Amino acid sequence: MEAARPVVEFDHHAPEFTIDPVRQYAELRDKSPVAWTESYGGHWVTTRYDDITRIARDDATFSSARNDIDGIAFVIPESKALPQYPIELDPPQSTPYRELINPLLSRSAVEALVPMIAKHVTEVIDAFIEDGSADLVHQLTNPVPTAVTLDWLGFPREDWKRLAGPIHDLFAAIPGSEREQRGGAALGFMGDRIFQLMHDRREDPKDDAISWLVAHGKAFSDDELASVIFLLVAGGVDTTTSLTGSTLVHLANHPEDRARLIREPALLDVATEEFLRKFAPSQSMARTVMTDTTIGGCPVAHGERVLIPWIAANHDPEVFPDPDRVILDRDPRGHLSFGIGSHRCAGAHLARAMFREMITQVLERFPDYRLTEPATPTESWGNQSGWDAIPVTFTPGRKRGTPAPKTTTGLDVQVLTLDAVTPIADGVVSLRLVGDGELPSWEPGAHLDLILPSGKVRQYSLTGDPADRESYQVAVLREPAGRGGSAEVHEVLTPGATLRVRGPKNHFPLVDAERYLFVAGGIGITPISAMVRAADARGADWTLLYGGRTRASMAFASALHEQYGDRVRLVPQDEFGHPDLAGTFAAAPEGTKVYCCGPEGLLTAVENTVGDLELHVERFTGGGADRVAPIPADARAFEVTLVRAGHTLRVPANRTLLEAIRDVVPGVPYDCEEGYCGSCETRVLAGAAEHRDSILSEAERAGGSTMMICVSRCATDRLSLDL
Ligand code: HEM
Ligand code: FES
Repeated sequence: MEAARPVVEFDHHAPEFTIDPVRQYAELRDKSPVAWTESYGGHWVTTRYDDITRIARDDATFSSARNDIDGIAFVIPESKALPQYPIELDPPQSTPYRELINPLLSRSAVEALVPMIAKHVTEVIDAFIEDGSADLVHQLTNPVPTAVTLDWLGFPREDWKRLAGPIHDLFAAIPGSEREQRGGAALGFMGDRIFQLMHDRREDPKDDAISWLVAHGKAFSDDELASVIFLLVAGGVDTTTSLTGSTLVHLANHPEDRARLIREPALLDVATEEFLRKFAPSQSMARTVMTDTTIGGCPVAHGERVLIPWIAANHDPEVFPDPDRVILDRDPRGHLSFGIGSHRCAGAHLARAMFREMITQVLERFPDYRLTEPATPTESWGNQSGWDAIPVTFTPGRKRGTPAPKTTTGLDVQVLTLDAVTPIADGVVSLRLVGDGELPSWEPGAHLDLILPSGKVRQYSLTGDPADRESYQVAVLREPAGRGGSAEVHEVLTPGATLRVRGPKNHFPLVDAERYLFVAGGIGITPISAMVRAADARGADWTLLYGGRTRASMAFASALHEQYGDRVRLVPQDEFGHPDLAGTFAAAPEGTKVYCCGPEGLLTAVENTVGDLELHVERFTGGGADRVAPIPADARAFEVTLVRAGHTLRVPANRTLLEAIRDVVPGVPYDCEEGYCGSCETRVLAGAAEHRDSILSEAERAGGSTMMICVSRCATDRLSLDL
């Protein structure tokens, strides 16, 4: 006998739904986590993280293709539009399209676009910064992603403005509405332009993405290539607009979060994932059931449609405690805002890069913006959330003209040799690292990621002299209560060892000022010592307050005191107790910028006493949970055959499978490199994987047909992969 369907009244495009989709999905999850609604011809709605993940990862049972549906089937209701590949195909048909676009949007390809992105953000903000007021949707969050995407693809400048509005209209509108038709009509022009550009770039290639696509996509027809290009615009522009708008509205309404991001710019990386989790620009997608099956115990039948709301998964309290709150430094790993499975967003790196540049420049250039009236949401948040207007005022600022120079991207791994290990204080060693020649430059406040022999990744601030391009120096305190990274540095590393290093990367830059007050606690002196030297060289007025347990435990203390005399106030706790923070701040002249690094207790005390002085702190964040080491301590070498690429490689014990594969397939997709996002999932054709990810179920592991190549390795001597 067929089980009764849990039927609910549900319409994700209804105006009352858009007021608070998260609450509506939460009520549904409590009442009936898999439910049937008669809306839009009838469909299932799922609200649990586990069910949504499973559906998105099982393309064979839950298809993204149109099948018999007249229109785009990955949303409900199906929308009438030209085909968009690969999002409307299932593997294996979608695979060649992904392989075509992945190299264009890889992490390193996007890093190369960062100066171009900064240029667009600077230009767009320059246009209104002197006015002291703006509508952040029409003047920032909509024009930037449009200009970046169209510039990157190769569209001429006159198209950027012309297409920005229609793209927003198309995605902001209720399906079937007049506004959607208006947007659609204007995009007819975009289709013609795509074909014209493909033709022009074949004749006369340029340094843009369309030239690359026509050169590398010879196996595809013009219609197929045009559908890919259309998707790159359609998928990327308004989603990024939505994420940035939601974040700007949140920061306007939560001054404490805004103040914290200004104080701790290093938090933005982790906070970006939290904003993605919380706001999920792409709120829901859909699939079509291909074989009778069950979802969460509920029978579903061939041909039925299923709504998979990413926003509901991101608010499942089983996975994200206290899901309704934005917690800037929570661990939001595993959010589904970029989807999961074979269709996981191809443009995630580009989206993050555009978002970060926009938020960074807002917080740097008009940090006191406030809403003049509540922001206006778009009409329906059923498929995609967004804003029609975010009107703000702020203290007018100055145009920048040319974008600020960028420091190194810090993403590429280099192999350096440990030249010296020197004890410099009780429990503290200094490491000197050298390369083959000149090393990438760095500025005070920058840190390195050291990838230790066990695979643990630890961040250490650079302490030496930036003018020394032959070596890097970091100082490491042995922390007996730590998670083993500092103990490994102290016990295992000896001169001559090679270390893999990422960076330098700077989240704690020393901004220009006439007067600085530096506050360091214990090993927090490491970035501060480099800043002190730079401030002195700039001729700034500065003082340093440096506390530690005992004089002998305070690295660099005597050298700093000898060199700079009374500007350096040393406060060993066993001699003088805690430093007088309140008195120090009260005596600091107006306009002094305070830079602080040290243990959490010191940072909190400084935050509570600093008053009106501008404070910059360095906290190493990244969520409290332990991360999966990319390479386990007992890793072994093995061989891997990439069947389609026709390569057989040896993966040494000190490299990940992903790293080895990237040498020969540079476009292989990846994102988290910690086994939780699913970007790098790859089919195993022969051999047994040793699974170390946090995605695959026990049954999938036992099935042996798939693996996450960023962290998983080989249980035997040899693997064959579908690459
Ligand atoms: C915050 C911004 C973005 C969000 C939230 C987002 C979200 C998503 C989601 C949820 C999917 C999965 C679709 C599915 O499972 O059916 C997806 C796919 C996709 N996204 Fe994004 N996206 C963003 C930005 C971008 C950008 C900037 C680009 C490129 C320029 C892009 C290109 C794509 C493409 C090509 C796909 C289809 C991948 C495939 O079918 O294999 N996205 N996106
Ligand atoms: S890159 Fe995220 S799971 Fe491998």
